[in-house]
Amino acid sequence: MPPSDPYRRSARYYDRLVEPMQAGVRNVALEVIPPQPGWRVLDVGCGTGTGLLPYVAADCEVTGVDVSGAMLEQAAARLGERADLHLLAAGEALPAADDHFDLSVTTMVLHEVPAEARPAFLAEMARVTKAEGRMLLIDFRFGSLRGWRGPALRTATAVMERLSGHYSGYRSYKASGGVPPISAAAGLEVEREKIVAGGNMALYVVRPNTP
Ligand SMILES: C[S@@+](CC[C@H](N)C(=O)[O-])C[C@H]1O[C@@H](n2cnc3c(N)ncnc32)[C@H](O)[C@@H]1O
Repeated sequence: MPPSDPYRRSARYYDRLVEPMQAGVRNVALEVIPPQPGWRVLDVGCGTGTGLLPYVAADCEVTGVDVSGAMLEQAAARLGERADLHLLAAGEALPAADDHFDLSVTTMVLHEVPAEARPAFLAEMARVTKAEGRMLLIDFRFGSLRGWRGPALRTATAVMERLSGHYSGYRSYKASGGVPPISAAAGLEVEREKIVAGGNMALYVVRPNTP
């Protein structure tokens, strides 16, 4: 029997709960790597598909994959024919040939992937990303915090991760040090780190063909 879908109940409310906090980070993502018309863009763990909308608007060819059928239902309702959406089993190969995408993005997903599977998750993203393309990894960051927002957001994050049932993933992700060491374990190098949310989150630009 397949594992139950942790987003079965919350998918319908997800955007109302999360978008107020997430919208600013999505805008920063578009500044860090401005999408170009005609690009092939992949969103791994696309959830409700909201993060794909700006790439559709920029005339990119967009693909979203997720392990949650409930989240993908929301994405299908939002994007219709404008995106190629796929339901995957955790750890399944991405549905694309090598060197296919100009940009592959994953937003607030890596900390939900089981610790031992995280380097392989990134290596699989790298496989389907063109050698001259880029990976954009957006997730929690565990360095020094900034201003009053940093500590407040870190506390709020820990509470939300407990309530959402993802706390063990968050804790193991924190213990691992986050994106830079996981990328290194996958043989990938972080080219740029853009810190947001008072230091609680960052956008990491990663080259898929790190020598
Ligand atoms: C916190 S939500 C973020 C959704 C979306 N990326 C966003 O920014 O709104 C995490 C998403 O990652 C998905 N996910 C978790 N593990 C995954 C995996 N191994 N492969 C693909 N998607 C995964 C979940 O089903 C969920 O939709």
